[in-house]
Amino acid sequence: MKGVILAGGTGTRLYPLTRLMNKHLLPVGKYPMVCYGIERLRQGGITDILLVISKQSAGQYTDFLGSGAEFGVSLTYKIQEAAGGIAEALELAEGFILPGERFVVLLGDNLFKDSLEPYVKSYLQQPAGTAKVLLKPVEDARRYGVPVFDSADASLIAYIEEKPEQPKTKFCVTGIYMYDEAVFDIIRRISPSRRGELEITDVNNLYAVERKLSYDVLQGWWSDAGTFQSLREAGDKLRDTLP
Ligand code: G1P
Repeated sequence: MKGVILAGGTGTRLYPLTRLMNKHLLPVGKYPMVCYGIERLRQGGITDILLVISKQSAGQYTDFLGSGAEFGVSLTYKIQEAAGGIAEALELAEGFILPGERFVVLLGDNLFKDSLEPYVKSYLQQPAGTAKVLLKPVEDARRYGVPVFDSADASLIAYIEEKPEQPKTKFCVTGIYMYDEAVFDIIRRISPSRRGELEITDVNNLYAVERKLSYDVLQGWWSDAGTFQSLREAGDKLRDTLP
Protein backbone atom coordinates (compact mmCIF):
# COMPACT_ATOMS: atom_id res chain seq x y z
CA MET A 1 0.00 0.00 0.00
CA LYS A 2 1.31 3.45 -0.93
CA GLY A 3 0.14 6.95 0.00
CA VAL A 4 -0.47 10.08 -2.06
CA ILE A 5 -1.01 13.48 -0.45
CA LEU A 6 -2.39 16.21 -2.69
CA ALA A 7 -1.03 19.51 -1.44
CA GLY A 8 -0.91 21.67 -4.57
CA GLY A 9 -4.09 23.72 -4.05
CA THR A 10 -3.85 27.41 -3.29
CA GLY A 11 -6.35 27.90 -0.43
CA THR A 12 -8.10 31.09 -1.48
CA ARG A 13 -10.36 31.00 1.58
CA LEU A 14 -7.26 31.48 3.72
CA TYR A 15 -6.06 34.67 2.00
CA PRO A 16 -3.97 36.68 2.78
CA LEU A 17 -1.93 34.09 4.69
CA THR A 18 -1.87 31.78 1.66
CA ARG A 19 -0.39 34.58 -0.45
CA LEU A 20 2.78 34.06 1.56
CA MET A 21 2.67 30.35 2.16
CA ASN A 22 0.99 27.31 0.66
CA LYS A 23 -2.09 26.33 2.65
CA HIS A 24 -0.71 22.89 3.54
CA LEU A 25 2.34 24.45 5.17
CA LEU A 26 0.35 26.69 7.51
CA PRO A 27 0.92 25.97 11.19
CA VAL A 28 -1.40 23.50 12.91
CA GLY A 29 -0.22 23.13 16.50
CA LYS A 30 3.55 22.74 16.35
CA TYR A 31 3.82 21.49 12.77
CA PRO A 32 2.94 22.49 9.20
CA MET A 33 -0.45 21.05 8.23
CA VAL A 34 0.99 18.48 5.80
CA CYS A 35 2.77 16.65 8.65
CA TYR A 36 -0.50 15.34 10.05
CA GLY A 37 -1.41 13.55 6.82
CA ILE A 38 2.08 12.07 6.66
CA GLU A 39 1.74 10.88 10.26
CA ARG A 40 -1.71 9.34 9.67
CA LEU A 41 -0.29 7.37 6.73
CA ARG A 42 2.84 6.31 8.64
CA GLN A 43 0.77 5.24 11.59
CA GLY A 44 -1.45 3.21 9.22
CA GLY A 45 1.64 1.34 8.00
CA ILE A 46 2.12 3.38 4.80
CA THR A 47 5.62 4.80 4.47
CA ASP A 48 6.08 5.16 0.72
CA ILE A 49 4.43 8.52 0.05
CA LEU A 50 4.08 10.83 -2.95
CA LEU A 51 3.51 14.51 -2.26
CA VAL A 52 1.93 16.51 -5.09
CA ILE A 53 2.89 20.16 -4.55
CA SER A 54 2.90 23.45 -6.43
CA LYS A 55 6.09 24.77 -8.02
CA GLN A 56 5.93 28.01 -6.01
CA SER A 57 6.34 26.24 -2.67
CA ALA A 58 8.38 23.15 -3.60
CA GLY A 59 11.52 24.45 -1.89
CA GLN A 60 9.72 25.00 1.39
CA TYR A 61 8.42 21.44 1.37
CA THR A 62 11.81 19.92 0.68
CA ASP A 63 13.50 22.24 3.23
CA PHE A 64 11.16 21.10 5.96
CA LEU A 65 10.46 17.46 5.06
CA GLY A 66 13.59 16.44 3.12
CA SER A 67 13.58 12.73 2.24
CA GLY A 68 11.00 12.07 4.95
CA ALA A 69 13.50 10.02 7.02
CA GLU A 70 13.05 12.28 10.05
CA PHE A 71 9.32 11.54 9.92
CA GLY A 72 9.73 7.78 9.43
CA VAL A 73 8.64 7.78 5.77
CA SER A 74 10.12 7.93 2.28
CA LEU A 75 8.90 10.90 0.25
CA THR A 76 8.66 11.39 -3.51
CA TYR A 77 7.65 14.81 -4.87
CA LYS A 78 5.74 15.76 -8.01
CA ILE A 79 4.90 19.25 -9.20
CA GLN A 80 1.37 20.26 -10.19
CA GLU A 81 2.09 23.17 -12.57
CA ALA A 82 -1.31 24.87 -12.29
CA ALA A 83 -4.48 24.24 -10.30
CA GLY A 84 -6.54 21.97 -12.59
CA GLY A 85 -8.54 20.06 -10.01
CA ILE A 86 -8.06 17.22 -7.56
CA ALA A 87 -8.36 14.51 -10.22
CA GLU A 88 -5.70 16.24 -12.35
CA ALA A 89 -3.37 16.30 -9.35
CA LEU A 90 -4.12 12.64 -8.73
CA GLU A 91 -3.23 11.76 -12.32
CA LEU A 92 0.35 12.79 -11.48
CA ALA A 93 0.57 9.69 -9.26
CA GLU A 94 0.56 7.45 -12.34
CA GLY A 95 4.02 5.92 -12.53
CA PHE A 96 4.47 6.18 -8.76
CA ILE A 97 1.71 3.58 -8.39
CA LEU A 98 2.82 0.35 -10.05
CA PRO A 99 0.46 -2.19 -11.67
CA GLY A 100 -1.22 -4.24 -8.94
CA GLU A 101 -0.54 -1.68 -6.20
CA ARG A 102 -3.20 0.01 -4.11
CA PHE A 103 -3.02 3.38 -2.45
CA VAL A 104 -4.62 5.88 -0.11
CA VAL A 105 -5.13 9.45 -1.32
CA LEU A 106 -5.37 12.25 1.24
CA LEU A 107 -6.28 15.82 0.46
CA GLY A 108 -3.56 17.66 2.36
CA ASP A 109 -6.01 19.90 4.16
CA ASN A 110 -8.05 17.02 5.58
CA LEU A 111 -7.14 16.59 9.23
CA PHE A 112 -8.54 13.76 11.33
CA LYS A 113 -8.00 11.64 14.42
CA ASP A 114 -8.93 8.10 13.29
CA SER A 115 -6.26 5.59 12.49
CA LEU A 116 -6.41 4.60 8.81
CA GLU A 117 -5.51 1.01 9.62
CA PRO A 118 -9.00 -0.58 9.82
CA TYR A 119 -10.17 1.24 6.68
CA VAL A 120 -7.11 0.17 4.71
CA LYS A 121 -7.63 -3.42 5.89
CA SER A 122 -11.23 -3.44 4.74
CA TYR A 123 -10.28 -1.89 1.38
CA LEU A 124 -7.69 -4.61 0.84
CA GLN A 125 -10.53 -7.18 1.08
CA GLN A 126 -12.31 -5.53 -1.87
CA PRO A 127 -11.85 -6.83 -5.43
CA ALA A 128 -9.31 -5.15 -7.71
CA GLY A 129 -10.66 -2.21 -9.68
CA THR A 130 -12.96 -1.00 -6.88
CA ALA A 131 -12.64 2.11 -4.70
CA LYS A 132 -13.49 3.24 -1.18
CA VAL A 133 -14.18 6.69 0.28
CA LEU A 134 -14.42 7.71 3.92
CA LEU A 135 -17.46 9.67 5.08
CA LYS A 136 -18.19 11.88 8.06
CA PRO A 137 -21.56 13.26 9.24
CA VAL A 138 -21.40 17.09 9.15
CA GLU A 139 -23.69 19.94 10.15
CA ASP A 140 -23.75 21.64 6.76
CA ALA A 141 -23.18 19.12 3.98
CA ARG A 142 -23.73 21.77 1.27
CA ARG A 143 -19.99 22.61 1.26
CA TYR A 144 -18.97 19.09 0.33
CA GLY A 145 -19.47 16.05 -1.85
CA VAL A 146 -22.55 14.30 -0.44
CA PRO A 147 -23.17 10.55 -0.92
CA VAL A 148 -26.50 8.91 -1.75
CA PHE A 149 -26.56 5.25 -0.78
CA ASP A 150 -27.44 2.30 -2.98
CA SER A 151 -30.98 1.20 -2.06
CA ALA A 152 -30.26 -2.46 -2.85
CA ASP A 153 -26.85 -2.72 -1.14
CA ALA A 154 -26.25 -0.41 1.82
CA SER A 155 -22.49 -0.98 1.67
CA LEU A 156 -22.28 0.90 -1.64
CA ILE A 157 -22.65 4.53 -2.72
CA ALA A 158 -25.09 5.00 -5.63
CA TYR A 159 -23.78 8.48 -6.51
CA ILE A 160 -22.23 11.61 -5.04
CA GLU A 161 -23.58 15.12 -5.47
CA GLU A 162 -20.92 17.83 -5.33
CA LYS A 163 -21.93 20.76 -3.14
CA PRO A 164 -25.72 20.19 -3.47
CA GLU A 165 -28.09 22.95 -2.40
CA GLN A 166 -30.29 20.34 -0.75
CA PRO A 167 -28.13 17.47 0.49
CA LYS A 168 -29.92 14.11 0.46
CA THR A 169 -27.88 12.74 3.39
CA LYS A 170 -26.05 14.31 6.34
CA PHE A 171 -22.72 12.85 5.24
CA CYS A 172 -19.77 14.49 3.57
CA VAL A 173 -17.32 12.57 1.38
CA THR A 174 -14.04 13.43 3.07
CA GLY A 175 -10.80 13.87 1.16
CA ILE A 176 -9.70 10.32 2.02
CA TYR A 177 -9.94 7.94 -0.94
CA MET A 178 -8.63 4.46 -1.76
CA TYR A 179 -7.92 3.20 -5.26
CA ASP A 180 -5.72 0.94 -7.34
CA GLU A 181 -4.11 1.76 -10.68
CA ALA A 182 -7.49 1.40 -12.44
CA VAL A 183 -8.19 4.97 -11.29
CA PHE A 184 -5.87 6.39 -13.95
CA ASP A 185 -8.03 4.98 -16.77
CA ILE A 186 -11.10 6.39 -15.01
CA ILE A 187 -9.51 9.85 -14.81
CA ARG A 188 -8.90 9.72 -18.57
CA ARG A 189 -12.66 9.17 -19.06
CA ILE A 190 -13.80 12.38 -17.32
CA SER A 191 -13.96 15.91 -18.75
CA PRO A 192 -13.38 19.26 -17.05
CA SER A 193 -16.35 20.55 -15.03
CA ARG A 194 -18.02 23.94 -15.48
CA ARG A 195 -15.23 25.51 -13.40
CA GLY A 196 -12.69 23.96 -15.79
CA GLU A 197 -11.32 21.36 -13.36
CA LEU A 198 -11.09 17.57 -13.34
CA GLU A 199 -13.31 16.77 -10.36
CA ILE A 200 -12.65 13.90 -7.96
CA THR A 201 -16.42 13.50 -7.56
CA ASP A 202 -16.72 12.72 -11.30
CA VAL A 203 -14.06 10.03 -10.85
CA ASN A 204 -15.86 8.54 -7.85
CA ASN A 205 -19.19 8.64 -9.67
CA LEU A 206 -17.80 6.48 -12.48
CA TYR A 207 -16.98 3.86 -9.82
CA ALA A 208 -20.40 4.35 -8.22
CA VAL A 209 -22.32 3.82 -11.44
CA GLU A 210 -20.53 0.48 -11.87
CA ARG A 211 -21.38 -0.36 -8.23
CA LYS A 212 -17.70 -0.33 -7.30
CA LEU A 213 -17.66 2.44 -4.67
CA SER A 214 -17.77 1.40 -1.02
CA TYR A 215 -17.44 3.58 2.06
CA ASP A 216 -16.65 3.62 5.76
CA VAL A 217 -17.59 6.30 8.27
CA LEU A 218 -14.86 8.03 10.29
CA GLN A 219 -15.51 7.61 14.02
CA GLY A 220 -13.39 10.48 15.32
CA TRP A 221 -12.95 14.19 14.72
CA TRP A 222 -12.42 15.38 11.09
CA SER A 223 -11.95 18.81 9.52
CA ASP A 224 -10.91 20.18 6.14
CA ALA A 225 -9.20 23.18 7.77
CA GLY A 226 -10.39 25.46 4.99
CA THR A 227 -11.28 28.51 7.09
CA PHE A 228 -9.47 30.48 9.77
CA GLN A 229 -11.82 29.11 12.42
CA SER A 230 -11.41 25.46 11.38
CA LEU A 231 -7.64 26.00 11.15
CA ARG A 232 -7.52 27.23 14.75
CA GLU A 233 -9.74 24.37 15.96
CA ALA A 234 -7.49 21.88 14.18
CA GLY A 235 -4.47 23.31 16.00
CA ASP A 236 -6.24 22.88 19.35
CA LYS A 237 -7.34 19.31 18.58
CA LEU A 238 -4.10 18.04 17.10
CA ARG A 239 -1.46 19.93 19.08
CA ASP A 240 -0.48 16.92 21.19
CA THR A 241 -0.84 14.22 18.56
CA LEU A 242 2.70 14.78 17.23
CA PRO A 243 5.79 14.91 19.48
C1 G1P B 1 -13.25 18.59 -2.16
C2 G1P B 1 -14.16 17.60 -2.87
C3 G1P B 1 -15.40 17.34 -2.01
C4 G1P B 1 -14.99 16.89 -0.61
C5 G1P B 1 -14.03 17.90 0.02
C6 G1P B 1 -13.48 17.34 1.34
O1 G1P B 1 -13.90 19.84 -2.13
O2 G1P B 1 -14.52 18.10 -4.15
O3 G1P B 1 -16.18 16.32 -2.62
O4 G1P B 1 -16.16 16.75 0.19
O5 G1P B 1 -12.91 18.16 -0.85
O6 G1P B 1 -12.52 18.19 1.91
P1 G1P B 1 -13.09 21.25 -2.05
O7 G1P B 1 -12.67 21.41 -0.61
O8 G1P B 1 -11.92 21.12 -2.97
O9 G1P B 1 -14.08 22.28 -2.46
